[in-house]
Amino acid sequence: MKILAIETSCDETAAAVVADGRGVLSSIVASQVKDHEVYGGVVPEIASRKHVEMIVQVVQTALKKADLSFGDLDAIAVTHAPGLIGSLLVGVNFAKGAAFANDLPLVAVHHLRSHIAANYLTHKDLTPPFLCLIVSGGHSHIVEVLDYTKLKVIGKTKDDAAGEVFDKVARARGLPYPGGVHVDKIAENGDPQAFLLPRPSVKGSLYDFSFSGLKTAAVNLIHNAHQKGEMIKIEDLCASLRHAIVDCLTSKFLAAAKDNNYKKLAISGGVSANSHLREHLKSECEKNSLKLYMPQLSLCGDNAAMVGSQGYYEYIAGKRASLDLNASATMSIEE
Ligand code: KG4
Ligand code: ZN
Repeated sequence: MKILAIETSCDETAAAVVADGRGVLSSIVASQVKDHEVYGGVVPEIASRKHVEMIVQVVQTALKKADLSFGDLDAIAVTHAPGLIGSLLVGVNFAKGAAFANDLPLVAVHHLRSHIAANYLTHKDLTPPFLCLIVSGGHSHIVEVLDYTKLKVIGKTKDDAAGEVFDKVARARGLPYPGGVHVDKIAENGDPQAFLLPRPSVKGSLYDFSFSGLKTAAVNLIHNAHQKGEMIKIEDLCASLRHAIVDCLTSKFLAAAKDNNYKKLAISGGVSANSHLREHLKSECEKNSLKLYMPQLSLCGDNAAMVGSQGYYEYIAGKRASLDLNASATMSIEE
């Protein structure tokens, strides 16, 4: 079964063709990073307009690369939530038009569900149930993947997402957007113990995260040093920040796996590209005889191939969207 998938939830215009949920026939991602960099973050209005400009050629290129036309497809899948509403609407409307014009079934896909599915494309042997840590620019979740379309959130951030902390601290130190990838690279040459940053926890909830205290502490460190005319060694700041974030994520994730008896673990989302998170979890899982699945680096960030994979599983579970499908800025992954 061949699905054309479309993803426009934030600042990447992406289209892909995926076979039977596991095979990527093509995957095209047009990034808008250069358009937003000068503002230090995504400008929603600009993001929507760029999607409008790019969507047709991105879809055409995805079909061409797969050597297919609309007539060869079995369905169209599109990210409809959560994300920037103006951005989502571009993909949703394009998908509706294409589904209508070509008489194809339409499947609505939740963005975070698709991040999990990046693992199905990377690891053909991975099947639910497993426990997944989803860490992106806007979300930090610990999710029981009971089945492909049956999910249960057992932990999430009470305030900022992990990616947001990377990006905001990076911005305060003058690093380009998106900061996570730069912090990760610079951290390689720093001392992770140089600054003692807090590892906040949430009273009474075992697997929830709270990152705002950590973010504020790191930003204050930068501002205080600046006011005193001192210069913090950027390598040490990045290494200490990365270490603190990864500590918070892995301690809760591993505790959740242990308490709930999961031997199969997966990570996903933009922050799952973080090299320290990947190395640290890999060694902890080896020590504890847990099997760890991680998406290949090219599938950690936003892309449409993961939408095509999750779209396939939504389709075979009988989910169909009608032509009055709307986009939604927020939506639980359990819905
Ligand atoms: O999943 P994603 O591409 O978009 C959202 O759905 O939000 O995640 C983007 C986030 C950004 O915060 C970015 O800084 C972060 O992923 N990120 C990283 C790395 N690569 C991307 N964070 C830490 N280390 C990285 N190597
Ligand atoms: Zn994402």
